[in-house]
Amino acid sequence: MMKKQDDVSKTKTSVNPIFTTKLGVLLVTLGSAVGLGNIWKFPALTGMNGGAAFVLIYLLCAVVLGLPVMLAEHAMGREGRKDVIGTMQKLAPKSLWWVIGAIGILAAFLIMSFYSEVAGWVVAYIGKAVTLGRLSTDPATNSQIFTDLVTDPAQSLIWQWVVLLATGLIIALGVVKGIEATIKRSLPLLFVLLVIVIVRSVTLPGAAAGLEFLFKPDWSKVTFTTVLTALGLAFFKLSVGMGCMMTYGAYFRKDQDIPVTATRIVLLDLLISMMAGLAIFPAVFAFGFEPTAGASLLFITIPAVFASMPFGNFFMIIFFFLTALAAMGAILSLLEVITSYLENNFKLKRATATAVTIGGIALFGVPAALSNSSTASWLVFGKTFFDFYDFVTSNILLTVGGLLISIFVGWVWKYPKLNAQLSNQGELQNEKVNKFFFFMLKFVTPVLIFLILLSGFGLVK
Ligand code: PHE
Repeated sequence: MMKKQDDVSKTKTSVNPIFTTKLGVLLVTLGSAVGLGNIWKFPALTGMNGGAAFVLIYLLCAVVLGLPVMLAEHAMGREGRKDVIGTMQKLAPKSLWWVIGAIGILAAFLIMSFYSEVAGWVVAYIGKAVTLGRLSTDPATNSQIFTDLVTDPAQSLIWQWVVLLATGLIIALGVVKGIEATIKRSLPLLFVLLVIVIVRSVTLPGAAAGLEFLFKPDWSKVTFTTVLTALGLAFFKLSVGMGCMMTYGAYFRKDQDIPVTATRIVLLDLLISMMAGLAIFPAVFAFGFEPTAGASLLFITIPAVFASMPFGNFFMIIFFFLTALAAMGAILSLLEVITSYLENNFKLKRATATAVTIGGIALFGVPAALSNSSTASWLVFGKTFFDFYDFVTSNILLTVGGLLISIFVGWVWKYPKLNAQLSNQGELQNEKVNKFFFFMLKFVTPVLIFLILLSGFGLVK
């Protein structure tokens, strides 16, 4: 049966005017996936969790669990054509499944509260490339520069607010339309710059140890918690499990090939992450940094690579600028989850919804921004606010969200509805692929996520 679907450009409910071409859909969705998760978080967690073995588990989580959930979200979003909660209410009226949407909105809010801080550090480092003059390869010097930044409460707050304000301005000025054009240019540029950094990094004396760290698994470091961390990272990096992909799916064109789009996003996202790893780890070992440096790893290692290159400061400006743009693509997608809900349910204008959301994040972001200074001793379950927001979102909200989404699609929404979306109402001849993904969503994804969650929290051994 051919069901009449609104054309994106004609759909009224909070439709983002950016999704008008197929390539645009891919780019903007990719813009959500590629961000600080790839450039900052992936290297940080890989370093803290022992390298190659973690990378392998993470790859498996992204492909086996992340991809099916992503395409399920796109399909549900395009069927619902509403915000996260609205879509769930439309797909499963008079039930509790709207909770998936509520989890998404909460997750988007908490992620933004710490993500905007890291984006703030990135912006601050654009300035450092100018003010530092000669860059250093010395671990102690570079660590000190980072520590000075993050332990200064005034700077921590200001840089976060700069990011939030810039985000608000982009939306208020309606430049969102330009985001597709920006991503079209900035992602390939980021790719090229990463290639340059990789070439320098892997040719440093002593770089081989970094490659070994990244590619030679040492399974002795792997625990159940590592697996949960890898799963959380995979979902975080792909922006799945919290309705972000569902919200964007609502803007997909009716002739968008969802399985192909989702697969491309997952592969490109993996590629950029691996490239960030290749840019960072050889240098970490060549210069004697600690791979376990965590949140600071990107910020202390990258300047050292640039220090050993001609025009290093110039390249560093471009690198952090492009990273800031990548972060912006992700931030805009997070905002969209919340603002589309506020617009639809409280009949707020887009500008008001954005202002309310950004104001809220500025407030909730304060304790996260000050986690290395004034609020360092405020612990929630033994974690600073920054770490707590990060842990709760990646490891709990996104994984539980992904679990519920797969159960919903596999057991409630069922194959015919999923297939109708994945095949564009029968226009695409991709039954086999769709059956495979349905099988994954019904049996494999929920069981694996459930087991990883239980074991990650020490409930089964
Ligand atoms: N995927 C983004 C990144 O890697 C972060 C993100 C998470 C964006 C969840 C939207 C939703 O940086």
